[in-house]
Amino acid sequence: MNLTHLAVIMDGNGRWAEKKGLPRIEGHRRGAQKAEEIIEWCAELGVKYVTLYTFSTENWKRPKDEVDFLFSLLVEMLNKKFSRMMEQGVRIRFCGLVERLPEQILTVCKKFEQKTKDNQKIQAILALNYGGRREIVDAINKAIQNGVREFDEIILREYLYLPDVPDPDLVIRTSGELRISNFLLWQIAYSELYFTEVLWPDFSKEDLLKAVKDFEKRHRRFGGL
Ligand code: IPE
Ligand code: IPE
Ligand code: MG
Repeated sequence: MNLTHLAVIMDGNGRWAEKKGLPRIEGHRRGAQKAEEIIEWCAELGVKYVTLYTFSTENWKRPKDEVDFLFSLLVEMLNKKFSRMMEQGVRIRFCGLVERLPEQILTVCKKFEQKTKDNQKIQAILALNYGGRREIVDAINKAIQNGVREFDEIILREYLYLPDVPDPDLVIRTSGELRISNFLLWQIAYSELYFTEVLWPDFSKEDLLKAVKDFEKRHRRFGGL
């Protein structure tokens, strides 16, 4: 299979909860469980990298209660699933303005990154406080501070958050929204896109297999013939 890197815009938690007459946070709770499941499914399929859009730089616009809940959920999930992830060979990494997160969250992220750093089966990359435009702007500024005066694509890539990670082959977005919402702008230049109406908490292994099957049928030309 040519699917090395899958990236997912996990959308629709709020609508899932609203449909069921539950508070939005219940949708996030289910969504977080789903995130853990998709990492396992990807590992089974032989995918080497899965990037999950967990919190965008724009998501700070949400009510403080919801934001606080999302971060506490992240910490809870990491703690709860730690031994399982070690067993499964999952390496956890983060991409985004992680350094700008509250101290307490940052410490937890660093801890899990460190503890899982030798796991080889799959890399699970959580895009946290992530914005694609911001990533590019920050890369340029860092490069300039480093004395770079002229850019090419190879140089710019070195200053992105995770330069060693190959570009996503496939991007899945759930919940029927047909947009990218500032996700991995540089890296998805030639990614295949897959949109589904399924709300993230309902996303099943069958839904993933359907997306993968669709991806396998695509003819990636990269501008060639
Ligand atoms: C995605 O679900 C999770 C995050 C953005 C953190 P949403 O919370 O955006 O769910 P909807 O789009 O309101 O249904
Ligand atoms: C994208 O979803 C961000 C994440 C999934 C973390 P949003 O729900 O924030 O995106 P918009 O607002 O519909 O574009
Ligand atoms: Mg949304």
